[in-house]
Amino acid sequence: MKEQLANIKSEALAAFGAVDTPAALDELRVKYLGKKGELTAVLKQMGKLSAEERPAMGQLANEVRAALEEAIETSARKLEAAALEAKLKAEALDVTVPGRAPKQGHKHPMYRALDEIKDIFVGMGFTVLDGPEVELAELNFDRLNAEEGHPSRDWSDTFYFDEDSRVMLRSQTSPMQVRAMDTMPLPIRIIAPGRVYRKDEVDATHSPMFHQVEGMVIDKNVTMADLKGTLNLLAEELFGKGTITRFRPHHFPFTEPSCEMDVQCHKCGGAGCPTCKGEGWIELLGAGMIHPNVLRMASIDPEEWSGWAFGMGLERTAMRRFKIADLRLIFENDVRFLEQF
Ligand code: PHE
Repeated sequence: MKEQLANIKSEALAAFGAVDTPAALDELRVKYLGKKGELTAVLKQMGKLSAEERPAMGQLANEVRAALEEAIETSARKLEAAALEAKLKAEALDVTVPGRAPKQGHKHPMYRALDEIKDIFVGMGFTVLDGPEVELAELNFDRLNAEEGHPSRDWSDTFYFDEDSRVMLRSQTSPMQVRAMDTMPLPIRIIAPGRVYRKDEVDATHSPMFHQVEGMVIDKNVTMADLKGTLNLLAEELFGKGTITRFRPHHFPFTEPSCEMDVQCHKCGGAGCPTCKGEGWIELLGAGMIHPNVLRMASIDPEEWSGWAFGMGLERTAMRRFKIADLRLIFENDVRFLEQF
């Protein structure tokens, strides 16, 4: 029996040492120490021993069992450590592998034109304002000297939210003139870009939603010469040195006198071509000296202060700036078009 125990011990220890998976280790544990295991079988024979032999043999058997249990424990820990090692290796992150470059987009051509416009005016000390697209008719019309019955207030031109025509989608950025007068200390130099809405059918030059940039200066001794000088500078900065402009008389309720500014066609130099529809000139913006009524309604004394304002179409400017023929291209966002800029 002594021999039997010694054999089991050496055999089992060798087996435990060589085992390479937790499942195999468990199988071995059952094989030696399980209810029907080899060591258990030997212990069951203890009863046959004489009373003198039994204690020594019992002690030996216990020692063998303890040795086996310890060997199992050691093997289990070794396997666990090996498994962890393998897992760490498998999940290792190689930080030196070159990354996948994200596909980078770029600014929409209209916003590039807007960025240029902002830069030009910020450089001259203007503040850039943002305003609501849902506007009160009071600011879009009343405070801009557009009396009840003015054609631009018509339901066929303007998107109203209510029966009484008091709340609307702004039809121009000009209400930002009033918001600036109501909130900012004088003198004021602002531009205010944003979306405006009119009931126009979509075609190559019209859209029910488009963008304007409003500009306004209120100071002492401001004249039409300041307006023309500033807008000529704008045209040269946007379209290149030597760009020729033309100021035509016009009418707006909130400016007096009023004008429109055209830029000479870059394609034909004023002779007339398809780009300028034979006109030789491309209309860019409306402008004028702020009407004294508008100043008065904002509690600004027109005897002391004067100012000018302009409103330019942003799509139209971007079209001229990047030689785009059709307004719809600006809104369709076809990447084949956008990637050209
Ligand atoms: N708001 C005018 C328009 O939409 C443009 C404008 C702005 C004219 C400021 C004069 C002064 O046509």
